[in-house]
Amino acid sequence: ERLPALLAAMPKAELHIHIEGSLEPELIFELAKRNGVALAYPSVEALRAAYAFTDLQSFLDIYYAGASVLLTEDDFHDMAWAYLRRAAAENVLHTEIFFDPQTHTARGVPMEAVIHGLKRAADRAGAELGVSAQLILCFLRHLSEDDALQTLEQALPLREHFIGAGLDSSERGHPPEKFARVFARCRELGLRLVAHAGEEGPPEYIWNALDVLKVERIDHGVRCLGDPALVQRLAREHIPLTVCPLSNVKLCVFDQLGAHNLGELLSAGLAATVNSDDPAYFGGYLNQNYLETFAALPLDAGHAYTLARNSFEASFADQADKARWI
Ligand code: HPA
Ligand code: ZN
Repeated sequence: ERLPALLAAMPKAELHIHIEGSLEPELIFELAKRNGVALAYPSVEALRAAYAFTDLQSFLDIYYAGASVLLTEDDFHDMAWAYLRRAAAENVLHTEIFFDPQTHTARGVPMEAVIHGLKRAADRAGAELGVSAQLILCFLRHLSEDDALQTLEQALPLREHFIGAGLDSSERGHPPEKFARVFARCRELGLRLVAHAGEEGPPEYIWNALDVLKVERIDHGVRCLGDPALVQRLAREHIPLTVCPLSNVKLCVFDQLGAHNLGELLSAGLAATVNSDDPAYFGGYLNQNYLETFAALPLDAGHAYTLARNSFEASFADQADKARWI
């Protein structure tokens, strides 16, 4: 089979990866031991067996529990370094990594430990792996906007270490407009803006992420197809969608990969990309997402090329890097 080899070998970018979602059960147990943190599961196998999700919230509960073992700058470095080595092996040339500072600062972890640890791994990836890696700070939408504003202020002394801001966690009941002020502030600071919208939430959340938050990319966005006027808008303005096929199946956004709408999104002229979201929880890293999705849907080498090109074009890399990659 030539297509699987092409998918694995082709150069690509990853634009939707939560670094806390790359924490493998083995590393969770290692860090728990190193830091003296008690876990609610007796073994790696028992933890992995709990990875059976019915929706976004059922995943988030266990994802935040897993992240509780992260305490020191080295922990954040080691987690990100493990992901970046994996990315390099999968021919990822560029990655834009989400992190959730509130998950850690709420437990008393210093903002500096989070950002310095991740940044050290990102810089090391550039030097040792030839992978360019950037950081995007995400606000947790189940918390208040005031909490997000305080988090931004805490991160500002480290502004040079991250390129953008995003919005993640429980989508339904927490619409984009809840974060209008903090996104306006991020915009003034010159941060690049993204938000999760239309994963479980309605098309209206995608409209408001664009019109109120003024984001440049939509994370997930798969529910846009229910609104033809929105699809037109996304196509006309070339708003990228960072689609995560294995995630969508694990969180029951689609019943099975064969029912995923990635092909329709591309046919509609949308700048869709393929990404892993939380690879340690959803059954695979980036290449596994490409391989399984192409096996399940009527997609060919032309689609593979389009998706890889979209991933570079949709990135926040500078034009010179994009020109080298595309
Ligand atoms: N959606 C929302 N929040 C998240 C996700 C996701 O897929 N992964 C990690 N945090
Ligand atoms: Zn996500």
